Amino acid sequence: MKQWIDKLRQERTLRPEELRQLLTGCDAETLRYINKQAQEVALRHFGNKIYIRGLIEVSNCCRNNCYYCGIRKGNPNIERYRLSQESILDCCRQGYESGFRTFVLQGGEDTALTDERIEMTVARIRQDYPDCAITLSLGEKSREVYERFFRAGANRYLLRHETYNESHYRQLHPAEMSGKQRLQCLADLKDIGYQTGTGIMVGSPGQTVEHIIEDIRFIEKLRPEMIGIGPFLPHHDTPFAQYPSGTVERTLLLLSIFRLMHPSALIPATTALATLAPDGRERGILAGANVVMPNLSPREERKKYELYNDKASLGAESAEGLDALQKQLNAIGYEISTERGDFKCNP
Ligand code: 5AD
Repeated sequence: MKQWIDKLRQERTLRPEELRQLLTGCDAETLRYINKQAQEVALRHFGNKIYIRGLIEVSNCCRNNCYYCGIRKGNPNIERYRLSQESILDCCRQGYESGFRTFVLQGGEDTALTDERIEMTVARIRQDYPDCAITLSLGEKSREVYERFFRAGANRYLLRHETYNESHYRQLHPAEMSGKQRLQCLADLKDIGYQTGTGIMVGSPGQTVEHIIEDIRFIEKLRPEMIGIGPFLPHHDTPFAQYPSGTVERTLLLLSIFRLMHPSALIPATTALATLAPDGRERGILAGANVVMPNLSPREERKKYELYNDKASLGAESAEGLDALQKQLNAIGYEISTERGDFKCNP
């Protein structure tokens, strides 16, 4: 197993058969070894600095009905909300004062949050914070709309492909959604010039090792600037309520594989990982992650943005908890960086 890890570090790629062996034969010792290798690569590229991104959950209204997601249209049991432009700007102001230089506007595909409205909000943030990066994570839009947001001042876009395999995609999403469409969006985003993020849930229902290999190879081709990897966690009001969570170990293994294949990528230790294990964030960083995304949303709305059960939004997951986060990171030898942290090809 060690030989494949060394080869992966050196050549930044493996054959499908080698990946298969790594994914199926990874015991505790192998995991420790690959996590260490990936941590070294991250340290070499970024030093002991962890970038922070302020996450603003702008709306939990969504026209989609993804089977895994708690804010799916078909869930009648959540209180829906949508932040006003003023409220979003307020979050940015507070975030800026705390040291955030990237704002991530994330939300469901909310038809009432019109393209004009988003465009205006982006333009306002761009005007008020010329030194900050603006990241959008608002789902699938047409190329024209992505272009408008980009011209208004957005720099980055997060859109996980969730799974590359068509039939697995259909297991996770209703018939009106398509994996092809998702991939087209990602191609458009890259082409327009966004720093683009994609990724998958680890351990989603029906996911096989073969699917994961397809995902790894897709991401290798796409070369996204950001890679989001978190465990699937069930939500009690979804069709997948009874499925088991993804595991910490599998998530850490994939984080490390992606770090070794993409040394300069921005890879967050996700909220989902921190929700699954109390020390998830730290373990993510020790496996090669270099970004954390504390929650800047208004406190009243946070619990309503429940993608999965018991989603963490307090303590070190929150912008108010930056001191706590700083302490957690210090304890493992890392520091928060308040730099904007753009993707650099050869940092
Ligand atoms: N478990 C883990 N991650 C989830 N997401 C949505 N629902 C869940 C869940 N139940 C992730 C998806 C989406 C991102 C915003 O959150 O991957 O792209």
